[in-house]
Amino acid sequence: MEGIIIKGTGSYTPKNVINNIKLGEIVDTSDEWILTRTGIKERKISIDENTSDLAIKACKIAIKNAKISSLDIDLIVLATCTPDMLIPSTACIVQKALGCDNAVSFDISAACTGFIYALDIAKSLIKSNNYKNALVIGAETLSKIVNWEDRTTCVLFGDGAGAVVLSKSEEEGIIESFCKTDAKKYECLVAPSNDLNNPFIKNHIKNEKYLKMDGQEVFKFATTTIVNSIKEVLEKANMTIDEIDYIVPHQANIRIIEHSAKKLKIDKEKFYTNLENYGNTSAASIPIALHELNEKKNLKKGDKIILVGFGGGLTFGATIIKWCV
Ligand code: COA
Repeated sequence: MEGIIIKGTGSYTPKNVINNIKLGEIVDTSDEWILTRTGIKERKISIDENTSDLAIKACKIAIKNAKISSLDIDLIVLATCTPDMLIPSTACIVQKALGCDNAVSFDISAACTGFIYALDIAKSLIKSNNYKNALVIGAETLSKIVNWEDRTTCVLFGDGAGAVVLSKSEEEGIIESFCKTDAKKYECLVAPSNDLNNPFIKNHIKNEKYLKMDGQEVFKFATTTIVNSIKEVLEKANMTIDEIDYIVPHQANIRIIEHSAKKLKIDKEKFYTNLENYGNTSAASIPIALHELNEKKNLKKGDKIILVGFGGGLTFGATIIKWCV
């Protein structure tokens, strides 16, 4: 049988650690408020590395763990909402730095669900276009679009990157997946790009510069979406939650995850969480957590893991993987 497996994982986060107490020196907040409302203790904030720099370091680890060379990579799909530049894509910068000269490279944008979308796109392209080894990356420097004067958002986010090598194989390591978009409420989480401005516009209306969020609306969306997405992907795979060893959710808020565990009537230990150390790193959160899960729990061949994401768009999706290495 021909299938697709995750052959290697990697992650990298900036060395600059900003804990809640330090944030209290910048905005009117406290360790107690952030910890009880979100579960976040600290986040890594870049001072000298852009999104591509984080991605390149994560990819080097993933390629090494997959025991392949850069020239074996023929596809790079990078999920980000904080690219280095508008042109070229961050994936192109990563391709050049890694010497992946045989690859086709591009970015995708699906906010915090970006990695789930990228995995699904890479899987489909490997199947349809006969690619052999894809780098699938989630990489972000949210710190450059966060308003550091807005305590309702700046305490939540962090910078980082995670990557996997997705390879053609005789085994099937992607059991089931789906991606969906419900754009009706996209206004509840937005981050602007350049203004529309040209010599033909009389009254130039300036965009706001930073990320803006209706926290409570997003919280409601997230809690129902995680639960429904896990149920949907299990149903598609004809599996039950008892057959799953770990769930790696998008790392936004511990209360969202605890609420989901309660609704699904499962032990919250089944959810792998690391948001206390990184905050919400958007598209990077799932691959960073998957790499850490693999390192810490020593994933065994045959382990079944659900990856589940939700975010701006509003986007959501889930994947069931079987660990095959
Ligand atoms: N420190 C101290 N106080 C803060 C604060 C901060 N960092 N941020 C907000 N507050 C205040 C508010 O001003 C408000 O004060 P008020 O009652 O005097 O008006 C109070 O705390 C409660 O604010 P509220 O927005 O009701 O808090 P909440 O319990 O809804 O928690 C979030 C806020 C953002 C943590 C929560 O809504 C959330 O996690 N939403 C989902 C966000 C998310 O995951 N986004 C990414 C999705 S991919």
